Amino acid sequence: MTKILVLYYSSYGHIAQMAEAVAEGARSAGADVDVRRVAETAPAEVAKAAGFRIDDSHPLLDDVNQLAQYDGIIVGSPTRFGRMASQMAAFWDKAGGVWFQGQLNGKVGAAFTSTASQHGGQETTLFSILTNLLHFGMTIVGLDYGFQGQAGVDEVKGGSPYGATTIADGDGSRQPSAVELEGARYQGRRVAETAAKLKA
Ligand SMILES: Cc1cc2nc3c(=O)[nH]c(=O)nc-3n(C[C@H](O)[C@H](O)[C@H](O)COP(=O)(O)O)c2cc1C
Repeated sequence: MTKILVLYYSSYGHIAQMAEAVAEGARSAGADVDVRRVAETAPAEVAKAAGFRIDDSHPLLDDVNQLAQYDGIIVGSPTRFGRMASQMAAFWDKAGGVWFQGQLNGKVGAAFTSTASQHGGQETTLFSILTNLLHFGMTIVGLDYGFQGQAGVDEVKGGSPYGATTIADGDGSRQPSAVELEGARYQGRRVAETAAKLKA
């Protein structure tokens, strides 16, 4: 069975919701899916002052040696100044040995993100994740235009050919919309299908 990891960091829950939808999509393609969060690295006083929630909605993945067991890894992180959160970067920065041994070469990688504002760094954040995954030798799957929900300007919405996205608004009040969650499911399904083909 194809094994997929949805690995995310989320301060306020938007990326956690998107991770669930990505996982649903991957499961719909028959994959065995684990959803895991990376560790909080912000000092407790910083997390408290910024109102970060205590994220215990999914098990923690801290051991980078677990990565090699998956056929596809889908990474979700909110933007931080136009790039992935340091919590997610810190996780990958521990994986030098995994990189050195080429353990992820040829596996499928993908990214999803969230920003506060529509143009607050969605695509640059996705590419900061994808750059990382390409260095690990992964074969990238985006959000192809088979998902037509990303087209059109009839409503405020995320979604890009580089990965599924949502928009949280400055106070975090906006939640992932139906079309954004649909995009996340589509991407999860596509990654699982691609990983299954590459594995065969
Ligand atoms: C330190 C910091 C920097 C941020 N930088 C940006 C930014 O550059 N552009 C933007 O649109 N939102 C920015 N945000 C907002 C977050 O991206 C937003 O809270 C996040 O997408 C919500 O996802 P989450 O609920 O999964 O944490 C920033 C938030 C923090 C705490």
